[in-house]
Amino acid sequence: MCGIVGYVGKSNATEIILGGLEQLEYRGYDSAGIALYTEDGIKIAKEKGRLKNLNDELEVSPLNGLMGIGHTRWATHGAPSKTNAHPHTTEEKTIAVVHNGIIENYRKLQEMLVKEGYTFVTETDTEVVPYLVDWCYEGDLLAAVYKAISYLEGAYALGIMHKNHPNELVAVRKESPLIVGIAEDGYLIASDIPAVLEHTQKVYYVDNHEVVYLTPDDVKFFDGAKAPVQKDVKVIDWDAQTASKGGYDYFMLKEIHEQPVAIGETLKRRLDENGRIHLDDFKLTKEQLENISKVYIVACGTAYYAGIVGKYIIEKLAKIPVITDIASEFRYSDPFIDENTLMIVVSQSGETADTLAAMKEAQSKGARVLAITNVVGSSLARGADDIFYTWAGPEIAVASTKAYTSQIVGFYTIALYFADLKGIVTPERYNELIEKILPLGDKVAEILENKGQIEEIAKKLVNAHSAFYLGRGLDYTIAEEGALKLKEVAYVHTEAFAAGELKHGTIALIEDDVPVIAISTQEELIGKLVSNIKEVKARGAYVVAIAKKGCEEMHHVADEVIEIPVEEDFLMPILAVVPTQLIAYYTSITKGIDVDKPRNLAKSVTVE
Ligand code: AGP
Repeated sequence: MCGIVGYVGKSNATEIILGGLEQLEYRGYDSAGIALYTEDGIKIAKEKGRLKNLNDELEVSPLNGLMGIGHTRWATHGAPSKTNAHPHTTEEKTIAVVHNGIIENYRKLQEMLVKEGYTFVTETDTEVVPYLVDWCYEGDLLAAVYKAISYLEGAYALGIMHKNHPNELVAVRKESPLIVGIAEDGYLIASDIPAVLEHTQKVYYVDNHEVVYLTPDDVKFFDGAKAPVQKDVKVIDWDAQTASKGGYDYFMLKEIHEQPVAIGETLKRRLDENGRIHLDDFKLTKEQLENISKVYIVACGTAYYAGIVGKYIIEKLAKIPVITDIASEFRYSDPFIDENTLMIVVSQSGETADTLAAMKEAQSKGARVLAITNVVGSSLARGADDIFYTWAGPEIAVASTKAYTSQIVGFYTIALYFADLKGIVTPERYNELIEKILPLGDKVAEILENKGQIEEIAKKLVNAHSAFYLGRGLDYTIAEEGALKLKEVAYVHTEAFAAGELKHGTIALIEDDVPVIAISTQEELIGKLVSNIKEVKARGAYVVAIAKKGCEEMHHVADEVIEIPVEEDFLMPILAVVPTQLIAYYTSITKGIDVDKPRNLAKSVTVE
């Protein structure tokens, strides 16, 4: 949530910061702002709404300087408005601050600062920071920032500049993500890699509690105790082009189309020359695995739905009982965690606050944590004991698509690896599964060729007030993900139901023309699902089935059948989810929604 960018160097800071903010808009887009160190002191421009509004304003009244900070906001404290937009400053604009995160004790600090004579004008938690730094300032900016953060509770990545320090930018990280980019002619700070890629692929990852002191020619890192920290430069292996739309109208469509490659890559990169799975970032030994009595899979949103598929996969292949939980609820359920528990956390961004908190909770109780994540060097990756990178490439659209399918391939890979370590999978089945998973991307490509049919079906969903996804077994897990997609990008209220559960209440909502999308890929469950479809048809529903090619039963009962390639039932989730992504995408764009940035959402949810 929220994206911050800062620059200090020898180039035009405005251009660099606005370019960076454009790459971070996925993190929040209800307002944007910039603070520039100019010849006339610190100048601010802010606008409500998309970054474009700020760009337009800066065209009319340009701001120029060699140092600045910028922000794109996802509101937490105070409505989206020009006043609440960052950067926040002291009254005299001596100090400007951008912030991603939440200052939990801001009320207490505000009370204290008001007594000291400061006046607050916004509804935000962030506004306490510039005043706090001012209150702590005695001529040395770095010292003032250190003193100020000792009062702060909560999560924050901060970029701070001061009128008296024309070439000094200070940044701080606690929980919220922060990186430093090394450009040819200066340094950048940013919430995420895409913001700096136009200028550099060389970055430093800032760790928790670290403070960064940047000047045009140097960057210094200090830990929480003010001791200097030596850091290694990391080279990012994707460039600005990879993070662009590459000819597609929207990132979501581009990312859906990247799945054929991403799916194959996730497994292929783990196979050694003998075709055996080799997991580089796993330290878990055979002995440790044998002591694991249960697995918890914990995540949020789409990553959680990948987790419930993961439960099926691990239980079936690795024969370990799995409990799944939503990360935001995990800590309240008094979970059965001990040193014989393996917790698997799943997160595209690796920065989701609830998932990070769940990981810490599990580790404090002695569990080993394995992270499945897409972002190298993310907080989750750095905190976990073992890591499985999904290698899906940058996912920019708010709606997660290729990360989800790669996470599921991750579960197949991990479960097969575990089964092999435990000696409970035959060599034939081991090889068979690898040989079937590797070309699954080609089958996804076949589904994408048929997107015209799905675009037509979506036209019938645009006026729906509500819709239903049905499925049984593994198909039910896909129904959950399909329903979330339709809700978040197309604003259609959609429920996912285990098909057999519908008649226990929810069927009361079925009336003429209500769209019901039935997922039917599990051979032994088709008969039962046919009965459930007949039940909703009898009450007027418009039924679309997603079924294996040649599934006659579905052609008999459904109004439309989206046929997908045939594979063994166990591997069908990867194929069955793709039409659900396209249904959501086409419904959204037909309604004229900005599918990459649906209302009220942000890509990276770094608040609890
Ligand atoms: C997915 O389409 C969502 N926008 C959202 O549910 C997302 O999956 C969730 O916030 C978790 O994010 P993460 O994978 O980065 O942890």
